[in-house]
Amino acid sequence: MLVVVHEDYGALSKKGAEIIASRIRQKPNLVLGLATGSTPLGLYKELIKLHKNEGLDFSKVVTFNLDEYVGIPPEHDQSYHYFMRENLFKSININPSNIHVPQGMFGELKISSFETDPKIVQFCDWYEGEIHRYGGVDVQVLGIGGNGHIAFNEPGSSLGSRTRIKTLTEETVKDNSRLFKSTADVPRYAITMGVGTIMEAHELLLLASGEGKAEAVRSAVEGPITAMCPASALQLHRRAIVLTDKKAAARLSAEFVTYG
Ligand code: F6R
Repeated sequence: MLVVVHEDYGALSKKGAEIIASRIRQKPNLVLGLATGSTPLGLYKELIKLHKNEGLDFSKVVTFNLDEYVGIPPEHDQSYHYFMRENLFKSININPSNIHVPQGMFGELKISSFETDPKIVQFCDWYEGEIHRYGGVDVQVLGIGGNGHIAFNEPGSSLGSRTRIKTLTEETVKDNSRLFKSTADVPRYAITMGVGTIMEAHELLLLASGEGKAEAVRSAVEGPITAMCPASALQLHRRAIVLTDKKAAARLSAEFVTYG
């Protein structure tokens, strides 16, 4: 695992964009795994700049997003479909048919048996199949939760897990409630790639910024490999790059890191 510490959020976002741009230049039909959340926003702004100023071409790039809430339509301003459209897709020349964001609408669900609901199981199998059909994800962008989660794989998620429906933790529901008009609207479930799905990407690029991530980064990089910190699975990956700023790297032992 390569851990590169940057001066600040701006520098790590630039570095992330440089890495992705160089992969796209090497392979114009790159299969790019994408994340939502506040961390990759700077990276997406940098990629948009590279597209506008240097002609970085996304026309053949294929994308797969990590996750989506269940029960929120794609046009809802808190859906991950909306997030990706607003923060990246509408500003680059990506072919809409190359974009894959997990489906979040499945109609009425029986909560007692949603894990085996045929519509969900079929969708998740299809999503995994599509990734496979494109030859796998070449570069997967990841954020990290303060508790070490990646995508919606909260602590305790199997390190071999595949794309599936997950119940959000109470903490996540509480965190999200500020973004919705009423508590009843806050999603309780999400479709997420599993840790096993993520680990099959050829290269992983995890971004972490701010002191709120320092403990999670330490556990992911130096801690034991455990389902209690899903990001620690990255230690088993042959091509995992962790880009942090100084604050997120504050609890790492110096010998693990290089400076960018
Ligand atoms: C989002 C995702 C999440 C976030 C993580 C960090 O697609 O997969 O795991 O990466 O919750 O979120 P931020 O970047 O908002 O701190």
